[in-house]
Amino acid sequence: MTQNPKPLRPRATPQLEFPLELHRLENPSRSGPLHNQLGEQLRQSILSGKLAAGTVLPSSRSLAHSLGISRNGVVLAFEELIAEGYLVGKRGSSTRVSSEAFHPVSSPAPVQPDRSRRWLAKPMPPRFADPDAGEFTLEFRLGRPDPWGVSLEDWRKIWRSVLRTPPANDYLDPQGYLPLREALSQYLGRSRGVSCLPEQMVITSGSIQSLDLLARAVLKPGDPVAIEEPCYRTARGVLETLGAKLIPISVDEDGLRVDLLPTGENAPLMLYCTPSHQYPLGSRLSMPRRAAMLEWAGQHDVLILEDDYDSEYRYNAAPLPALAGLSRLEQVAYLGTFSKVLSPALRLGYLVLPPALLEPILRQKRIVDFHSNQPTQQAMCEFVTSGMLEKHIWRMRRVYAHKREILREMLRPLLPWAKLGGLEAGLHAHLDLHPSLSAQKVQHMLAQRGIGVRIMDSSYYISNTVPRNAVLLGYGGLELADLRRGIGVLLEVLEGMLQESGSRI
Ligand SMILES: Cc1ncc(COP(=O)(O)O)c(C=O)c1O
Repeated sequence: MTQNPKPLRPRATPQLEFPLELHRLENPSRSGPLHNQLGEQLRQSILSGKLAAGTVLPSSRSLAHSLGISRNGVVLAFEELIAEGYLVGKRGSSTRVSSEAFHPVSSPAPVQPDRSRRWLAKPMPPRFADPDAGEFTLEFRLGRPDPWGVSLEDWRKIWRSVLRTPPANDYLDPQGYLPLREALSQYLGRSRGVSCLPEQMVITSGSIQSLDLLARAVLKPGDPVAIEEPCYRTARGVLETLGAKLIPISVDEDGLRVDLLPTGENAPLMLYCTPSHQYPLGSRLSMPRRAAMLEWAGQHDVLILEDDYDSEYRYNAAPLPALAGLSRLEQVAYLGTFSKVLSPALRLGYLVLPPALLEPILRQKRIVDFHSNQPTQQAMCEFVTSGMLEKHIWRMRRVYAHKREILREMLRPLLPWAKLGGLEAGLHAHLDLHPSLSAQKVQHMLAQRGIGVRIMDSSYYISNTVPRNAVLLGYGGLELADLRRGIGVLLEVLEGMLQESGSRI
């Protein structure tokens, strides 16, 4: 859902809540008469922009009362500023900052060259060069759900139920809204084969927060963590920020290469993976590899973080049970999210934890944000228990399957120069290019035509592996017309490049 809601217009200009420097008004003998001091402070505030044009000042009576000075002094200060054109107001009506005379000079404070800025010395997580949304007329953004996917009728219905009561006047349970955990534990049982109790679940503000909480609870700086390569870059950023030593493990068409996982003394403390739909290449971890991974984790006491971010959307492919459903949940932490199934703007996810991790995670959660947004949890509880979630998933599977078909049909003529992959599940695919077609050049040429795509560049790799020559195509968030237009331009670009090199489709 990318449409921005219109900001609500305030009914009336808010009244002034402005901290005047009272101490400077206390000693008239040193700093001049009180009304002069008050006038000067108001003048400076208007000139510096702290008091914006149109701001309504409190009445002279209430300002005098709150400053502990005579009403006369305030009236004098106001009259002086009205005469100078800083304020406007008539007797009997409110006094406001003039909307015409002043354009505050808002130049930032000059930079002090001698300041060390010690507080900026911490290394930042890597910054990935993503196409800038503002520059494109159309973008194949990864992992975005359909902008009109949610039925407005259902959406209103679930929120109506939340709006019956005001929000609680207290902090609530860090573990999350119990009825939502109950609803999700049942949903996970029937849809993902994960049998868990609501007591093992924690509601979070999305998978990235789930990962952050897990990493904070488990890792010390320098601890080894295995991660797929190519990888989900934000997960990498979280782990690196917390000091993890990352061990990249390559993936192929059957998912993570379990045979490459380090053993013995070299075994990592945790493994972060996306078995249902490897991010970004889209393969699914095969059943034999799932079994082998669980055996390896048990043998070496490794905690598996199973990020099941978009498994709801699979097409013509039988569901494979989650790792968390195949194990006794002692070695696997399961990360679920509403970001793909509904909207990333909800910021709502959930964790199913090995029992031993519950307490450490709850402590972290309390420190980080106490608990996730309660009204959103209530609304999502209604969404799940009413059956709307599953109805939505069924409907959206058809929508995404249609988009996927468009992608496949339109790009079919490019074979063998370009081949689509990662189509079995999720909201994006990748287009592997023949070595004569450089993905970087394709990205550049599309950008010149106003179209943004990501490519598999080195930012997806931790080792020095040469990046795959592929373009990533997020199709979930595009409307059909845009999808067709975007692929049409991609086709033209690729055809042009082939012609240039003397080849033809
Ligand atoms: C692999 C993966 N995991 C998780 C997420 C979503 O995280 P969150 O629930 O924090 O929105 C994404 C989003 O793109 C993702 O690609």
